[in-house]
Amino acid sequence: MMEILPEDKRKIDHWVAKFPTPKGAVLMALRIMQDRHNWLPREAIDAVSDYLKISKTEVYEVVSFYSMYRLKPGGRNYLKVCTSLSCCLMGADEVIQHVENSLSIKKGETTDDQMITLMETECLGACQMAPVALVNDTEYIGSLTRESLDQLLDQLKEKSSE
Ligand code: FES
Repeated sequence: MMEILPEDKRKIDHWVAKFPTPKGAVLMALRIMQDRHNWLPREAIDAVSDYLKISKTEVYEVVSFYSMYRLKPGGRNYLKVCTSLSCCLMGADEVIQHVENSLSIKKGETTDDQMITLMETECLGACQMAPVALVNDTEYIGSLTRESLDQLLDQLKEKSSE
C-alpha cells in the first residue's frame, strides 16, 4: 500500500474541509498525488480511495473520465494538443505533425530525454484561440503557428534542463 506523504495529506485535508463530504475532494486529491509522482500509479489511486474512504470503483470512474489524469509515466512536461472540430479546422493536424517532427516522437510518446510527452486531447474549451495546446494541464497556448510552437518547445526544453 502506498503511503500518502504528510505534506500531501495536509494539502488533501485542505480540500476536504471545503466540501460537505470527502468525496468532493477526490479530484484535487488525485491531482496532488499526480503532482507528487508525475503520473498516477494504481497504488496512488488506491491510496486516495483509502484516505478519503471512497470506493475504488468511484475513484477509478473519476480517473477514467478526466483526461488530465496520467495513467502511465511520461515526460516532465505534457503537451496536449486539441484535435476537436474548431482546432482541427484551424490546423491541429499540422500542429501535431510539426511537434512530432521536431521532437522525433509520435502522439502518445515521450522524448528520449524524458522531457516532453505529446498527447492529443478533446476540446479544451478555448475554441476562440484555435488551434490550442495545453501545457502541463495549466497553461493554454492558442493561435499556434510553427514559430510559436518552436518557441514553446525551446522553452520547455530549457525549463526541463534547469
Ligand atoms: Fe479545440 Fe475547442 S476545439 S479548444
